[in-house]
Amino acid sequence: MQGLSPNPKELDPIETASRDEIEALQFHRMKRSLKHAFENSPFYRKRFIEHDVHPEDLKSLADIGKFPFTCKQDLRDTYPFGMFAVPQPKLVRIHGSSGTTGKPTVVGYTANDIDVWANLIARSIRAAGGRPGDMLHNAYGYGLFTGGLGAHYGAERLGCTVVPISGGMTERQVTLINDFKPRIIMVTPSYMLSILDEFRRQGLDPRESSLEIGIFGAEPWTNAMRQEIEDAFNMQAVDIYGLSEVMGPGVAQECVETKDGLHIWEDHFYPEIIDPVTGEVLPDGQMGELVFTTLTKEGLPMVRYRTRDLTRLLPGTARSMRRIEKITGRSDDMIILRGVNVFPTQIEEQILKCAGLAPHFQIELTRSGRMDTMTVHVECTPDRADESARAASAKELAHHIKSVVGVSTRIEVNDPNVIARSEGKAKRVLDNRPKE
Ligand code: DLL
Repeated sequence: MQGLSPNPKELDPIETASRDEIEALQFHRMKRSLKHAFENSPFYRKRFIEHDVHPEDLKSLADIGKFPFTCKQDLRDTYPFGMFAVPQPKLVRIHGSSGTTGKPTVVGYTANDIDVWANLIARSIRAAGGRPGDMLHNAYGYGLFTGGLGAHYGAERLGCTVVPISGGMTERQVTLINDFKPRIIMVTPSYMLSILDEFRRQGLDPRESSLEIGIFGAEPWTNAMRQEIEDAFNMQAVDIYGLSEVMGPGVAQECVETKDGLHIWEDHFYPEIIDPVTGEVLPDGQMGELVFTTLTKEGLPMVRYRTRDLTRLLPGTARSMRRIEKITGRSDDMIILRGVNVFPTQIEEQILKCAGLAPHFQIELTRSGRMDTMTVHVECTPDRADESARAASAKELAHHIKSVVGVSTRIEVNDPNVIARSEGKAKRVLDNRPKE
């Protein structure tokens, strides 16, 4: 393993700049970006006028609080290109979200947006411990999803040799890892677990693989899962965050030398944490909903975009830019069970505490009468498949969930390989309650 701490000379100067320098740059860029949105996007012009604000009203960074929020529904209402701030011929690429509910959302990039994105992914891979010349296995999905192509361009920018395998065909993923010997893998954490299973199925020792660094994101995952993957592969596992509306992967990245949350690349994205109910801006350190204003985006500038992701802002450590704590979940994924708020990540944490359970799970919600029931479907590990071991694991898990999360659950311990495997973002919750 190469040294974890980067040579400061390799970093972009802004990564180690003072807070004053960062804030001065943010203010300058925010002003320019608001003006660009107002002058070139009919959507924002109308919005600002309705809220009686003008880019000139921004006298300090905190004045961003005077501007209206933007949300996913705005993108849907203006589908496909109604929020863009440049004419379509100036766009070099379109991406979109899969849109599990309703219409997909569409985002667009100018050549400069793609260039900035590649630089930020290159910066992210470097923060994860990657270096020019490394071979990088990219198992994020290629296509409209931002993961595959986003990571690809940035890895090339850093000078890595990219294997653009995309998601799926797990057997071949393992073959290519064995044959090409990549140092880095980029993939969702849940798909990494499927790759782990396949290593074992083929009788290969994952700890003997060439992989030293995993850059995992696109879905919530816990520190317990980090430990599980690091131990299984004898590798460093770090977190990458992003969302298509704001850019794609590479909005924030965890540094391998500290692994203490994700540094937001604040020279391009201005973060706020708000109370999800009242919209009030909360001070650093308090939990709430993450909101971003883009500072350099040309194709689709975002002003105060409500991510629905829940976290808090923390001061910089390995870099001077502020961090977000590992994301607990999205407010949309929060289950309210008999009055208690439950996130799938809380269940994940408890499963990983139990000996005899594999880290694959799904949560099923059902209703009988007025009573909601949560069933956690898990798998036993192959060495603990007998009835009494399973019953003991189920009891242990129900106990942990009750005492830590505060809800009673049904636990179903299945045979190995029964829970649907993810090839990208895992679907953690099956809501089988009748629609009202
Ligand atoms: O998931 C971009 C991405 C690709 C990020 C590859 C990292 C790696 P979307 O499909 O638009 O974009 O989904 C964005 O995914 O609002 C979060 O809810 C969730 N998410 C992304 N990264 C993380 C993470 C990509 N590291 C939505 N931890 C976001 C927790 C994450 N949740």
